[in-house]
Amino acid sequence: MSEVFNITVLPGDGIGPEVIAEAVKVLRVIESKLGITLNLNEHPVGGAAYEAAGHPLPEETLAAAREADAVLLGAVGGPKWETIDFSLRPERALLGLRSSLGLFANLRPAKIFKALTGASTLKPEVVEGLDIMVVRELTGGIYFGQPRGIDKTESGERRGINTLVYTESEVRRIAQIAFDVARKRNKKVCSVDKANVLECTGMWRDVVIEFAQDHADIELSHMYVDNAAMQLVRNPKQFDVIVTTNMFGDILSDEASMLTGSIGMLPSASLGEKHAMYEPIHGSAPDIAGQDKANPLATIMSAGMMFKYSLNREDVYNTLEAVVESVLDAGYRTPDIMSEGMQPVGCREMGDLIAQGVEEKLA
Ligand code: IPM
Ligand code: MG
Repeated sequence: MSEVFNITVLPGDGIGPEVIAEAVKVLRVIESKLGITLNLNEHPVGGAAYEAAGHPLPEETLAAAREADAVLLGAVGGPKWETIDFSLRPERALLGLRSSLGLFANLRPAKIFKALTGASTLKPEVVEGLDIMVVRELTGGIYFGQPRGIDKTESGERRGINTLVYTESEVRRIAQIAFDVARKRNKKVCSVDKANVLECTGMWRDVVIEFAQDHADIELSHMYVDNAAMQLVRNPKQFDVIVTTNMFGDILSDEASMLTGSIGMLPSASLGEKHAMYEPIHGSAPDIAGQDKANPLATIMSAGMMFKYSLNREDVYNTLEAVVESVLDAGYRTPDIMSEGMQPVGCREMGDLIAQGVEEKLA
């Protein structure tokens, strides 16, 4: 009997549906090549869900995400919903999914394809061969801390509040993930904090140091986030695994993505004890939505990460990576990674090329 996997697909807003369509195209080829069954169930999320159901994360969508073997998400958000109540903004759906599914570990690999060495805004020798894994804590920190909100001071002035909070166990479990990831790579972890100013991240550093005492096979270093941001553009190849808080990870992973040529290249996996969600790290890019200009590679590689981390088929991930490499080597480029002399393609054509490559290469 063939294996059956239930995947909840959440296209979302802006370029979300376009890049998801290309990932689905590729998934259908993988499905038939492997002789497995992928039940791909689409549900609305974000602004699209707000329009359809009055809430960015409807009950049915959350339930479908809970029941699935894995979730594949496009992107959420757009100018249309920037002025509605905070609790109903598309972004709340993403945060709601992360916290409801307990997806505390976000893996964001910033790996440069050789063909894109010249696409980065940094000098080729600085980024050539770059391979960093950002491990971002995803269900804690200032994104979720209480109290939060906007109130008024006694003098009637508005006051905005967010709270940075971590418990020891939250730090320990993300350290564990980072060390496990590093063990399969170059065995180096750099923990990024702001321990010189923020008590919370001072404790973060202490907990990571304590954790490392029983894991001496991994080389641990620490960096303040401002220095880390600078080092990422000065000498990014010094890093192997970076482990950091929710907000620092959000910022540093965007920065790291540009080292690989474009934010349109970075996939991610959000993992918890029971659930997993896969999504590109880029947003909904409303400025190019509906124009066949988006780069689907981050979403396609996110689907690849799903095979690696949820479906126990790392070989599929590796094949997909090799296919992306060969399509880039052949000179095909979406606008975000375009350079002189290359062959311009749209989102759909890029998806076709990858699907075709998978058809040829997947055993
Ligand atoms: C990301 C995004 C999200 C985040 C937004 C859309 C809520 O920037 O996944 O990096 O801040 O986590
Ligand atoms: Mg971000």
